Amino acid sequence: MFDCRAQAWRPTGADATRVYDVVGIGFGPSGLALGIAIEEHNAAAGPERAVTATFLERQPRFGWHRGMLLPGTTMQVSFLKDLATMRNPHSTYSFVSYLHGQGRLVDFINGKSLFPSRIEFHGYLEWVAARLGHLVAYDAEVVDVRPVLDGERVVSFDVVTAAGSVTRARNVVVATGLRPTLPQGIERSERVWHTSELLPRLAQLGGEQPTRFVVVGAGQSAAEATEHLHDRFAGAEICSVFSRYGYSPADDSPFANQIFDPAAVDTFYAAGDDAKRMLVDYHANTNYSVVDLELIQELYRRAYQEKVRGTERLRFINVSRVTDVHDTGEDVVAVIRSLASGETSMLRADAIVFATGYQPSDAGDLLGEVGAYCLRDTDGRLSLRRDYRVETSPLVAGGIYLQGACQESHGLSSSLLSNTAVRAGEILDSLLDARTAAVPSSFALEVKSHV
Ligand SMILES: Cc1cc2nc3c(=O)[nH]c(=O)nc-3n(C[C@H](O)[C@H](O)[C@H](O)COP(=O)(O)OP(=O)(O)OC[C@H]3O[C@@H](n4cnc5c(N)ncnc54)[C@H](O)[C@@H]3O)c2cc1C
Ligand SMILES: NC(=O)c1ccc[n+]([C@@H]2O[C@H](COP(=O)([O-])OP(=O)(O)OC[C@H]3O[C@@H](n4cnc5c(N)ncnc54)[C@H](OP(=O)(O)O)[C@@H]3O)[C@@H](O)[C@H]2O)c1
Repeated sequence: MFDCRAQAWRPTGADATRVYDVVGIGFGPSGLALGIAIEEHNAAAGPERAVTATFLERQPRFGWHRGMLLPGTTMQVSFLKDLATMRNPHSTYSFVSYLHGQGRLVDFINGKSLFPSRIEFHGYLEWVAARLGHLVAYDAEVVDVRPVLDGERVVSFDVVTAAGSVTRARNVVVATGLRPTLPQGIERSERVWHTSELLPRLAQLGGEQPTRFVVVGAGQSAAEATEHLHDRFAGAEICSVFSRYGYSPADDSPFANQIFDPAAVDTFYAAGDDAKRMLVDYHANTNYSVVDLELIQELYRRAYQEKVRGTERLRFINVSRVTDVHDTGEDVVAVIRSLASGETSMLRADAIVFATGYQPSDAGDLLGEVGAYCLRDTDGRLSLRRDYRVETSPLVAGGIYLQGACQESHGLSSSLLSNTAVRAGEILDSLLDARTAAVPSSFALEVKSHV
């Protein structure tokens, strides 16, 4: 196991003379995939055409949804859709290469599955992060991006962290992922959690013997949290509350799965707004508010067996919503309203786990003053080109790119792993094209300190 914390962070000041070609904000899978694409380009192109890059990551070490790294859970994407293979099948950064290095390739093959455990895939991502350790600074939360001006022209960007360090670059790639969301009016507390923090919260329970958990939602996170709590706390009742009648299966059938193909991004991007909305509606059940069929069957089997035994501790409160919560300090009370009868009931629990999903955050907030140079669409979102470059004022020389939060323009694969490798290659190509198009001297631009 590699310890990514070992990588030293050498902050650069606003007066630093170094200007990177690219600063990546966020070093999750999207940042890693771009890092790989850049490393592979540099190895092939040689020092003259190399792209200089650095990534800033707010976590103290690499981690991919650690709070939900539950034993027994598996990936929802084929291992072939790793960080590199779809872009470069010869890559040494593939999941197969990782397996080979770990001495598990043949064992994995014998398992006959395309879907590794999430824990194993996390090991793969950590392995990549460690190999790219020279490109990243951890404990570096970006809070602002400032324009570096030459007259009216924005010649580069200063990326500022919470600790005050400044890194200067000609291009910025934002890949900060999605934000956990709670229903309106619900606040997190000691006993009100989001699934994104499930494991650390459970660890804090210490020797406590919980008697009841309430889980809210009917997506994959909700079903996995329900199963995990049921496994782990044999003396506790687990009550899952959701508005559906029952969990619905994720559509992972082959034709529907094509919505995640690289070519689907072209189709989606070129489509009109109505067609875009229609495609998301048709195929939302490939991803949102749905659960792997096997897990649905497992939860049903458990509940039925409990019924047979007459000791029911796995309960499903369907067609219902949690409308309020009261954390008393000792426990928490969930107010539950039946959407069918309108009746309200209360459930006292040790904790309520909201598995209510994630929302994109507006990258514009992070971009600070630079946001003023970015164009927005009629809904107020950053306007993106097909190559993920934000449309900016002609005064801006460099590029701002967005990875992830662009489902409205680029389709359902945007926040997922399916297309990460290919997208990273497209962003790198765009950077290289822009560099070729620019006057040669601009690439070797000397920094003028205007900050
Ligand atoms: C539990 C769970 C399981 C999932 N499993 C799958 C799956 O099997 N298959 C699939 O396709 N998708 C899956 N997803 C969807 C998920 O969005 C993608 O797997 C993936 O995480 C997207 O990568 P990303 O790098 O874009 O975002 P993230 O993984 O969210 O990474 C963003 C990174 O940016 C960092 N960051 C955020 N803000 C800042 C800042 N201001 N400054 C510096 N750093 C910052 C964060 O700390 C984080 O490391 C899953 C999601 C969850 C919640
Ligand atoms: N093993 C894995 O690979 C794995 C594990 C977990 C998650 N994931 C992925 O992570 C992503 C997110 O999944 P997720 O399950 O966290 O989120 P999700 O699919 O968006 O599901 C959110 C659930 O919360 C409910 N909800 C939302 N707002 C609510 C509110 N205000 N009140 C009550 N209920 C509310 C939704 O109900 P409605 O439908 O009624 O809105 C839905 O059931 C998906 O891509 C998923 O595939 C993968």
